[in-house]
Amino acid sequence: ALKDNTIIVVLGASGDLAKKKTFPALFGLFRQGFLPRDVKIVGYARTKMDKAEYHKRATSYLKNPNDDPEITQAIEQFKALSTYVSGSYDEGEAFAALNAHLEEIESHYASKEANRVFYFALPPSVFVPVAKNLKEQCYVTTGINRVIVEKPFGKDLDSARELLSSLKQYWTEDETFRIDHYLGKEMVKNLLVLRFANIATGAAWDKNYISNVQITFKEPFGTEGRGGYFDEFGMIRDVLQNHLLQVLSILTMERPVSFSAEDIRDEKVKVLRSIPPITKEDTLLGQYVAANGKPGYLDDDTVPPNSICPTFAATTLWIHNPRWEGVPFILKAGKALNEAKVEVRIQYKDVTQGIFKDIARNELVIRIQPSEAVYLKMNAKTPGLYTRAMPTEMDLTYKRRFTEAKIPEAYEALILDALKGDHSNFVRHDELDVAWKIFTPILHWIDGKNGARPRPVPYPYGSRGPKELDGFIQKYGFKRANDSYVWPVTNLA
Ligand code: BG6
Repeated sequence: ALKDNTIIVVLGASGDLAKKKTFPALFGLFRQGFLPRDVKIVGYARTKMDKAEYHKRATSYLKNPNDDPEITQAIEQFKALSTYVSGSYDEGEAFAALNAHLEEIESHYASKEANRVFYFALPPSVFVPVAKNLKEQCYVTTGINRVIVEKPFGKDLDSARELLSSLKQYWTEDETFRIDHYLGKEMVKNLLVLRFANIATGAAWDKNYISNVQITFKEPFGTEGRGGYFDEFGMIRDVLQNHLLQVLSILTMERPVSFSAEDIRDEKVKVLRSIPPITKEDTLLGQYVAANGKPGYLDDDTVPPNSICPTFAATTLWIHNPRWEGVPFILKAGKALNEAKVEVRIQYKDVTQGIFKDIARNELVIRIQPSEAVYLKMNAKTPGLYTRAMPTEMDLTYKRRFTEAKIPEAYEALILDALKGDHSNFVRHDELDVAWKIFTPILHWIDGKNGARPRPVPYPYGSRGPKELDGFIQKYGFKRANDSYVWPVTNLA
């Protein structure tokens, strides 16, 4: 449940993440009445600014396109509960000043209870000093204290372990909420229901029926000025090791004993532990080049010259357990592609040979974004006096089926969970550890730790990806259906 007497402190309040994600999410929750009663939001960052300037920045991404008076009023109320303190990230006195501000707010509470939630919208270089200073200067003893942190959590297994153990000196696992914002997406949360509330999906959910699975992330834009951050991390650390692996773990885990956070996360860790490190042979790396008037990755001024950082990566993972032995799970992600799309595509095996010729395979597609949908590609008889089968869809498109529903933003859902103390959709320390184990060898290979660095293959800005991609996927048994083709039926009787 939500706790009264709560202050939410946003550290890094003048940065991009705070402006674009944290404040809009807090505002969304506020407007819908999902923040604790009388909540106060305190921003903290190095930039010196007065209240008016801070309010302007904190609300700069709140949308009110039609000047709706109700939203205008809510923005004013939101400003009224927001204050700002400036200070450095590494000095105890600065945090003592922040604490004094928090205590001033708390001195007006009717009871002694005081709860504080600290949201780190910060670069990783200051995670540890901020965690330390908050614990030493801003920790309350008459209520709960929580920290919300977000990737990057290190760059490989060793650096992640080092970071996690440094943070653990100050904050317990129970107090820590590690965000992977994909876990807050509606369709990702739906996976548990699709799988475990339907006996029909559960019945064909294994190596006997499924040929291959693809989890795909496509963005239609390049780094566009964010190249400094991106180049240091690359596509695998940016998206595969966290967002796509999270989706994979929920898709493949065994049924949890209950929906409690630890039961769910136990199953996720268990399936991840059955995945050996990815090999080079199972990897395809790409980098976009200029095309159609759009700049290539190396044309971005924020990217180091001659960088061979991958902006596209496809990797195939294998799960060594009885359910999934031999089924390839292809994770692929790229920037500067032809469209914006994130989806899971489960391709079933061929029907037994004999009565149909070249019949399309069933596919279950779970579209995470844009426009949430679940559809099953299945064959049906062509209506009328024909004896032919044709591929069709059983289609659950959210916009059509749930016309009134408002799908929450991922960060809204996650901040609400953190306020309630529910860890189900946050990443546990051992989950992160095993995720790094799977990806570290290949990242070291890409970083040139054991010899020459591999060169990504080029692909044009705005294309479907490297031309090698089709061959890569087919290698794992994926069969592309030809949409214009009608499958003839030799004998329907
Ligand atoms: C972030 C990555 O974690 O996820 C970005 O750092 C990426 O590079 C973003 O653009 C994608 O998130 P979403 O919610 O737009 O799919």
